[in-house]
Amino acid sequence: MSHNWPTGLTHGDCLEVLSVEQSRKADLVYLDPPYFLNREFHLDVRRVDTRFRGNWNEQEVLEHIAHISKLNSTKGLDSYLSWLYERLAAIRSVISPTGSIFLHIGTREAPAVSLVLDELFGAGNWRSTITWQRSHPHNNVTRNLGNVSDFIFYYSMSNEYVFNVLHTPHDETYLNNSFNNSDDRGQYALAPIIQERSRKGNQFEYRGVTPPNGWRVKREELERLDKDGYIHWGANRPYKKIYLADARGAPLQNIWTDLSNITRTEIDRRRYPTQKPLRLLERIVQMASNPGDLVLDPFCGSGTTLVAAKLHGRNFHGIDVSSDALSVAAERLAEAEMTQPGLFAGAEAQLSE
Ligand SMILES: C[S@@+](CC[C@H](N)C(=O)[O-])C[C@H]1O[C@@H](n2cnc3c(N)ncnc32)[C@H](O)[C@@H]1O
Repeated sequence: MSHNWPTGLTHGDCLEVLSVEQSRKADLVYLDPPYFLNREFHLDVRRVDTRFRGNWNEQEVLEHIAHISKLNSTKGLDSYLSWLYERLAAIRSVISPTGSIFLHIGTREAPAVSLVLDELFGAGNWRSTITWQRSHPHNNVTRNLGNVSDFIFYYSMSNEYVFNVLHTPHDETYLNNSFNNSDDRGQYALAPIIQERSRKGNQFEYRGVTPPNGWRVKREELERLDKDGYIHWGANRPYKKIYLADARGAPLQNIWTDLSNITRTEIDRRRYPTQKPLRLLERIVQMASNPGDLVLDPFCGSGTTLVAAKLHGRNFHGIDVSSDALSVAAERLAEAEMTQPGLFAGAEAQLSE
């Protein structure tokens, strides 16, 4: 049955679609392909040589895949890897030279898939591997460890790529213990302005204080901070004030435990079996693309990536073989018109200035 999908949605196997479509190169690709569940995946070997734009011939590709499959004795994994390899090669050909790719995969497939990615995108273009805690701990495990993680492999196409540093919020204990002073501007924490023992600072006297190891800032900077009310003159020593409103947490690291499937809001409720949290995709979109960029999800499912892209002013293209998935994606994209961006992003991470 044919259907007129809204702009930005295409029905079909991404391998077929990408070989005839995609007039503009993608700046960011996120894919969350089906995992290996001992299903049959078929490689059309005649296509490999033409799709793959690298220097390998068909024989070398097949040998490579056979080699990977030998690393894992489970029957069928080689056919899965071949199927994925073929699509990744097609995806690679539509990413811009400054673009990047995030591949989301389960614990079981991750080691073999990472080798395929290394081959296709280059080990030197590996940027990070994100461990995503997708659920709360499983309490029903007795003879194994609870498996709560997925992996997201992150590669860029070259050394030139978009990366916006995001910051996680401070944890509550830190906030309660540290921001326990206040003035008419609000709550603030105390940060050192005097140099510690191990380092030499700027030596001068200010308001009768001459720290033995000096100040952390130059005299002009100290005078400016003091004039603007940013110095806390304690009984024993002065400190710099860090207002709660200005406080940023640490830059984002590669273990994400704050965006589990459970912590969904009403607006992000699950409508598709493998739907990922919107906030997870908002984070990736904000981190690795800029407004106006094109975000591609070749296995878009219910369109989470596309909604995140739309909310943050990016263009988007989603592909899926399932028309049920695309119907959900179309609905979610229409609803995004009425959703404010930042509603999801602000609490977990904020764009660095
Ligand atoms: C794990 S789901 C993606 C879920 C998505 N990230 C979300 O948040 O809703 C994988 C999707 O890939 C689709 N799919 C499977 N094979 C495909 C192919 N060859 N081309 C495009 N889509 C495919 C499936 O229909 C399914 O919707």
